[in-house]
Amino acid sequence: MNIFNVSQSVGEIVAIMPKASEVFKELSIDFCCGGHRKLEEVIKEQGLSQEEVLKKLDKAYEDTRRLAGQLDYRTFSLSELIDYIENTHHTYMYRALPQISELTATILRVHGSAHTELFKVHKLYHNLKTEIEQHLIKEEEVVFPLIKKYEAVPSKELNENISRVVGETEEEHETAGGVLKELRKITNDYTVPEGVCATYERTYDALKALESDLFQHIHLENNILFRKLEIKV
Ligand SMILES: [Fe+2]
Ligand SMILES: [Fe+2]
Repeated sequence: MNIFNVSQSVGEIVAIMPKASEVFKELSIDFCCGGHRKLEEVIKEQGLSQEEVLKKLDKAYEDTRRLAGQLDYRTFSLSELIDYIENTHHTYMYRALPQISELTATILRVHGSAHTELFKVHKLYHNLKTEIEQHLIKEEEVVFPLIKKYEAVPSKELNENISRVVGETEEEHETAGGVLKELRKITNDYTVPEGVCATYERTYDALKALESDLFQHIHLENNILFRKLEIKV
């Protein structure tokens, strides 16, 4: 599953992941003046391999994340941490959620009659997807701007406001974690049955990847971002 896709513009990709500029430089792709052009267009014009370009971008993304994994997030300012969470974990979700939606629908259609638990997998996943989508928007539009505002100009009133929304946010994290646990249970820890197609395996791998990304994401928000806020308060 690729993190980026060719319908995105070159500039958009660099905005999401600055390290993409290194990939584009290596391939002589203009991401400054030609930043508005869709990746697909550029690949075609320069006679490049789409698969190879996306693979290089994925690798750059993985490198960024690995490097970030060695960083001490506690040394980040509140705004830096918020930007990091949005650039890595929120970006990941916007890519992965629709892809997994299609995958769960595909395996339900092909294997649902023999493996009836897939009806539940499909339903649970889509409940989770809707919840995560709303949650990300709420964080981006309400929670994170409030925290950034508080970091710039702290006040008692803002502090109270933030405490309330952070409480709700943590509850939503718990709900999402509960759905993931249920998904694990009904898929028998994502065990792929014998004799099914490769899409089945890809779907379960993608769900496992989503789970691990979400756990790290929630960890950064609950245990670092929100706690750091309390220390400041
Ligand atoms: Fe988040
Ligand atoms: Fe969150």
